[in-house]
Amino acid sequence: RTYSKIIGTGSYLPEKRVTNQDLTEQLAAKGIETSDEWIVSRSGISARHYAAPTQNSSDLGVEAAKKALEMAGIEGNDLDLIIVASSTPDFFGSFPSTACIVQNKLGITNNCAAVDVQAVCSGFVYAVATADSFIQSGMHKNVLVIGAEVFSRILDFNDRSTCVLFGDGAGAIVMTASQEPGILATKLHADGRHSDILSVPGNVADGALAGSAFLHMDGPAVFKLAVSVLEKVAQEALTHANMTQDQIDWLIPHQANIRIMNSTAKKLGLPLEKMVVTVDQHGNTSAASIPLALDIAVRDGRVKKGDNVMMEGVGGGFTWGAVLARM
Ligand code: ACO
Repeated sequence: RTYSKIIGTGSYLPEKRVTNQDLTEQLAAKGIETSDEWIVSRSGISARHYAAPTQNSSDLGVEAAKKALEMAGIEGNDLDLIIVASSTPDFFGSFPSTACIVQNKLGITNNCAAVDVQAVCSGFVYAVATADSFIQSGMHKNVLVIGAEVFSRILDFNDRSTCVLFGDGAGAIVMTASQEPGILATKLHADGRHSDILSVPGNVADGALAGSAFLHMDGPAVFKLAVSVLEKVAQEALTHANMTQDQIDWLIPHQANIRIMNSTAKKLGLPLEKMVVTVDQHGNTSAASIPLALDIAVRDGRVKKGDNVMMEGVGGGFTWGAVLARM
């Protein structure tokens, strides 16, 4: 059997770091009240990073990709597929794809396939599942998967219930065909009946914006759905791999809200020490959050070769999914 295996990770955070105190002062200047206490107690977030006006998702993704390629020990031209998961692609109309722009910026000239995947905060697990299927089928061998976002561009800084929650960043992994077990199971789901609870409800008509270009969210509805699906999909992945919870070494959930994350770990019967947490320093970076957290835990020595890692995404659409990987 051919498996796909993660052989390199990388991440990138833009230089500008914005603390809750910075945001509180920025919003107060507009007569909007918030506080470090409110943000931390409701979400677990203390700080986030914002991209410079000149930086797009592709720029963040390229920096993460360079590090992942270096760790994997392969050149860009060894890749035969690039998948970028992003809800904030370089172009409003979504094309050319951010994956094609990344390919060009990495100087790759081998005509490898390149495509974007859109599943909001589940984008990374959807992209990994896609890459895994391509590798298992024998169609592709070396795949670069990137989650990259500039959510600060779609935040309404007059809406305190959303603008404090999100940040910018990118994470990347290199996956390759292997005879050794790597990705052990992937499970994906969506329920389009809930598409209105988290959206950017805008479009282009006659060359102008129709609707809103900002993120709109029914926070409590998202919260309720997220906690109801995450444990179940992790169990599905475990069953598929013929494994049990106690075999999970690390839980790396989408970093949206520490309360959702803690509840998932608890339902899975996992001690909180087994969960990688970056939401406090990164905020919610949507499709970038899982590969960012994975890279940090790989580089600080927590996630080691042979560890079983459960990655879980949940987000707009409504979408959710899990990837169980042996590192
Ligand atoms: N500062 C101070 N007060 C605020 C702020 C703020 N930044 N934002 C909202 N409030 C107020 C509201 O106006 C409301 O006041 P009211 O009761 O007088 O009307 C009150 O706080 C709401 O408080 P709670 O109901 O206690 O808020 P809750 O505990 O529901 O937390 C939150 C809100 C953080 C949005 C929560 O619902 C949540 O995390 N939801 C999930 C969000 C999420 O994870 N989204 C990402 C999904 S992934 C993706 O696809 C992008």
